[in-house]
Parts: sequence; structure tokens; C-alpha cells
Amino acid sequence: MKYPFLDLGIVNAPYRERLVEASTRVINSGRYIGGPEVEDLERWLTQFTHTNYAVGVSNGLDALRLILEGYKVMGSLQDGDGVIVPANTYIASVLAVTASGLKPVFVDPDAETMNLSGSALRNHITPDVKAIMPVHLYGRLAWDEEMADIVSKNHLIVIEDGAQAIGAEGMGRLGGATALSFYPTKNLGAFGDAGAVVTDNEELARTVRAIANYGSDRRYHNIYRGFNCRMDPMQAAMLMVQATDLQSANERRRRRAQLYNQLITNPVIITPAEPNNPLAHVWHQYVVCVAQGGRDEFRRYLTAHGIGTDIHYPVPPHRQPCYGEYSESNLPIAEKLAASVLSLPISDCTSISDVKEISEIINQYRP
Ligand SMILES: Cc1ncc(COP(=O)(O)O)c(C=O)c1O
Repeated sequence: MKYPFLDLGIVNAPYRERLVEASTRVINSGRYIGGPEVEDLERWLTQFTHTNYAVGVSNGLDALRLILEGYKVMGSLQDGDGVIVPANTYIASVLAVTASGLKPVFVDPDAETMNLSGSALRNHITPDVKAIMPVHLYGRLAWDEEMADIVSKNHLIVIEDGAQAIGAEGMGRLGGATALSFYPTKNLGAFGDAGAVVTDNEELARTVRAIANYGSDRRYHNIYRGFNCRMDPMQAAMLMVQATDLQSANERRRRRAQLYNQLITNPVIITPAEPNNPLAHVWHQYVVCVAQGGRDEFRRYLTAHGIGTDIHYPVPPHRQPCYGEYSESNLPIAEKLAASVLSLPISDCTSISDVKEISEIINQYRP
């Protein structure tokens, strides 16, 4: 592929020497669970996300689940409570809800932002709904005044799924806690699985940390029936190498996205809406919609021109076999998005001149 969708070997090449140094340091330390490397990353996370507490954990799905389990242990959520989730999210958001014994309440997103909005969820508030999980999908902050109003009037718990949005301005300050993922393809990616919970809630942070460590608050003393969901120091040390560049890496994504939006003028390709606050979007994905059922043909055209693409996501969670009981839900926007979204290359392996060339190829496309 002349324009790969994502090649992590290329993206991570500039950090190679420092990554080798960091991993050698961990090997030599003899400490492979917890310890100062994880503490350093947690400290950086609190500063970067403007929160008081950070807990490094095993992955983003576990981060979400630990928050929900934490609220259950604290008595804020009970088995069977409803949690609003956007119907076009990645399935992990929903898996966390069901794994915690809670009930997903799917809500169609706003068609333009492809995110939850106040007006989208207003009609779904019932006495059973106790929490809401705004997912900052594709890196765009999913929040508006109307949603804030609904949350406060209905005393809803807010669990932010920030797996795709580390660095988006405003994230982590909306609700009780935010889950982050450092899956290798994320804006800040590990060399395996890793994630984190960030929050201002001291009790929740303490509870999450204990649940993630066999439910233990001190050695050989288990107050909860917990899990083993810890982040390992090898991932923490390697994440710290790239963490210092994250702000500028996000800025580089923003520039590519703005340029695509400016240059793509083909009327059959609908480019993503620009956010009111540019800093509230970190463009984890640059997602266009292809009009009139033409996505597959357009994708083949791009492949033939050496442009790698991906689909986030071709099947919404309620259409997955494991959620058969929700398959008849009326969620037309999520279904339409699943059939029309296409992600273009946006990572550090795509240069500004690549963006210009890709846009030109897109503009020449005729269905
Ligand atoms: C929106 C969203 N939520 C949750 C997750 C789960 O994160 P992880 O893959 O680290 O478990 C992901 C990523 O894969 C995601 O994109």
C-alpha cells in the first residue's frame, strides 16, 4: 500500500532507542508487577487529564468494568440498573455494562457528530436508567449543555468511555470517572494491552485499585471479590516514552483532519463535522460517510489506488450474535452509520503531502 491505513512499525520508529532503553530498565529492575514505572505513568496521567487520581489497569474494557463494579461496591449502582450507551459504539463499552450485571440502554447517536447528545437521549430517561456512558467516539468529546442538564436533573452517574480520546479538551471533567485504553492503535498505544481509570473521586479510585488487585486493600486482606486487572510496568515504561509527545501527536492528527476537511470536495463523500472547539477532538479516527450505499465500491476504488482504509464499525453491538435479545431494537442512525462509515489514514504514517494526494484521489472518484 502506498498510503497504509496504519503501520505501527513506522509510527513507533522514532521512539525505538528510548523504548529499548525503557524496556531494558524494567528488565534490570527485577520488578515486573506494579512499582515506580506504573506510579510515574499514573502521575503523568493525572496531570495530562487534569484529574486527581489515576489507576493503571490491564486494558480499556477492564477500565470500564472496574468503574462500574466500583460504583456497585460503593452502593451507587445495583444489579440490573440501566446504563445508556450510544448504539454505534465499539462493543467493549457494552460488554463492560453487561459483564457488571447492568443493562445496556442503546440510544441512537446524533447523525452529524456520530456521538450521544442531549436531544438524542432525552426520551430514553426512565426510572430504571441510573447511569450514562458517553463514548468520545473517534476522539470527539461527546458532551453538550442539554446532556449536562439531563444528567444533573436525573442524578445520573456518568462513566466516560475515553478509550479513543485521550487529550480531548474537557474529557475526564464531565462525570465520575473516565476509562482510557492504550491498545496499540490508540493515540497513545502500548506494546500489548493496557488501560487506565482517571477520576476526581478518591473513594472510587481506591475501590477500583483494590478490585483490580484481587479485591485487596492491603497484602493478604481481601475486602472485595476482585479481579486481576493490573497494568504491568513494561507497558507503563514504554507508554511514558511516547506520552511526552502525545500533545504534539494529537496536534498533527488535527492538522491532517482539518486539511482533509478542506480538500475533500467530492459531493458523494460526507466529511466529518468540525467540532466547535478544535481542542475537544483528537481525531483518533477520521471517518467519512459514503452516500447512497456506495461505501464498498468507494473502498475498492481507494484500495486500487493504494489507500488503506478501515471500518469503525461495520456491525453495531445490538446486531452482534451475543446481543440477540436487542437485535430488533429501532436504531436507524446506528445502522445507517454502520453501512456508510469509512475511516481514512490519519496516523503519523500519513504525511501532509499524503493527505493532499489522498484527497485528490478521492475528489476524482465517480460512483
Ligand atoms: C470506544 C472503546 N471503548 C472501549 C475499548 C476497549 O479498550 P481495550 O481494547 O483496551 O480493551 C475500545 C478499544 O478498543 C474502544 O474503542
